[in-house]
Amino acid sequence: MANSKYEYVKSFEVEDEVMFPNLIIIHIDSLDFSRFSQVHKFEKPNDETALNLMNSCASSVLEEYPDIVFAYGYSDEYSFVFKKTSRFYQRRASKILSLVASFFAAVYVTKWKEFFPHRKLVYAPSFASKAVSCASIEVLQAYLAWRQHDCHIGNQYDTCFWMLVKSGKTLSETQEILKDTQKQQRNELLFQQFGINYKMLPALFRQGSCLFKTKVEETVKHDENGNPVKRLRRRETLVHSENIAGRSFWNEHSSLHKDLGHFAKEIGKIEPDYVKSFQFESRLLPLTWVVVRIDGCHFHRFSEVHEFEKPNDEQALKLMNSCAVAVLEEFQDIVFAYGVSDEYSFVLKNKSELYKRQSSKIISAIVSFFTSTYVMRWGDFFPHKKLKYPPSFDGRAVCYPTSDILLDYLAWRQVDCHINNQYNTCFWMLVKSGKSKTQAQDYLKGTQTREKNELLSKQFVIEYNSLPVIFRMGSSVFRLKMQEGVTEENGEVSGKQVEAEVVVDFSNIIDPCFWQQHPHIL
Ligand code: GTP
Ligand code: MG
Repeated sequence: MANSKYEYVKSFEVEDEVMFPNLIIIHIDSLDFSRFSQVHKFEKPNDETALNLMNSCASSVLEEYPDIVFAYGYSDEYSFVFKKTSRFYQRRASKILSLVASFFAAVYVTKWKEFFPHRKLVYAPSFASKAVSCASIEVLQAYLAWRQHDCHIGNQYDTCFWMLVKSGKTLSETQEILKDTQKQQRNELLFQQFGINYKMLPALFRQGSCLFKTKVEETVKHDENGNPVKRLRRRETLVHSENIAGRSFWNEHSSLHKDLGHFAKEIGKIEPDYVKSFQFESRLLPLTWVVVRIDGCHFHRFSEVHEFEKPNDEQALKLMNSCAVAVLEEFQDIVFAYGVSDEYSFVLKNKSELYKRQSSKIISAIVSFFTSTYVMRWGDFFPHKKLKYPPSFDGRAVCYPTSDILLDYLAWRQVDCHINNQYNTCFWMLVKSGKSKTQAQDYLKGTQTREKNELLSKQFVIEYNSLPVIFRMGSSVFRLKMQEGVTEENGEVSGKQVEAEVVVDFSNIIDPCFWQQHPHIL
């Protein structure tokens, strides 16, 4: 399609493929979990129900993405390992890490009630995710050993910490007592002061949880004589194990060494250079405008299953807009957002230092927060429609060096909105009037804007420009001008900043007038 002069902005998107033979791990962890666990009154140091919820979400992730063959998690984190031959989404890191974080967040909200039937989910959770690449199976082995070591150390410390606090010590006294203590000293402290044998604590807390797929025989039906008919099915298996990086654990499970490889030796000391690579976070170019664009995954199917109106479902768009407003309220550095169909672009101001400009963290935080909000607010927009399965969105971040190029990016999206909406309006009017989908497609092939407008007005008595502006223009979300000072009753101007209201607007953002009217946005 002769799209527009703005298409060049696509060239700013960068490739981030994880090349073969690197193994792909997606690591996710809850953002600001200490606040989340406090607000939701999780037990300290471990809340068994919250851990079971995490495990259940991870199990759904394994079911959703067949290329993920192993997962390990504890506390508020999970690592998902893809099989070595995976070509999932052409191995594009942002796409994969954002999808996993988004899907995980959606499932977390969906399953919350099942695990906490008497506790309200107070706010939408979000997860940071990143892609770790392991050049060989030995590096994966080191990664697993590293994560399980952290689980062990963290759990032992936290167990001591909260036992001391529960026994009456203040937080700072507790910190002081535990400062510089070694593993053995902490075990002794637990035993001597509290009669706790650390080794006897639940394996779920001490060792974390592993998930992988095994073939299990299941009864699928009974034949006419009442005999069970059995089939081999791949099921997620959850186990706790003392040493997940050990050869015996790994070699015991044939699916793991088939999909990932053998551990040749037992692991000794974890190579510090490997740990450095696991912790590496790439950063977005300083002082550039960052756009995080998210897009619904397989929304073609999602909109069918949920019987969205064609070509545009106003409620579905309003739900998207409501989530975008929530994103702007949550992330102060996002100055503008533009949405159409199942996608939204979020613009971070060029001076933003959000998460030290770590790309994966920015993408995943936004996309997972958007998704969990979408699930939480579904019922407000579709009170009579059940959400049949958790939606997910992918995300990417692109840097634009100047505000002019940024405006061209936004214009590109709005032109796209116009072209798609006009096409879809004609297409669905033709289909509703009795044409097959192929006939409608053929009919519209090669038609220009003017011809499509004529078709609508002549055949269907629809003036394109009188269609709802939300469909034609897409939605813009931004803050109304921040009030610098407030005039008090006595006439004095105080320096108080007033929270600026976030609004949804359906303007033509290609027109420079829009930006002149709102000079504070960029
Ligand atoms: P991926 O993004 O590649 O995973 O595929 P997708 O199926 O999400 O397609 P894409 O993002 O290219 O396009 C969005 C799709 O969502 C459209 O093609 C529609 O099928 C559907 N969609 C979005 N908004 C609406 C809506 O308001 N009504 C209806 N009926 N469908 C919609
Ligand atoms: Mg989509």
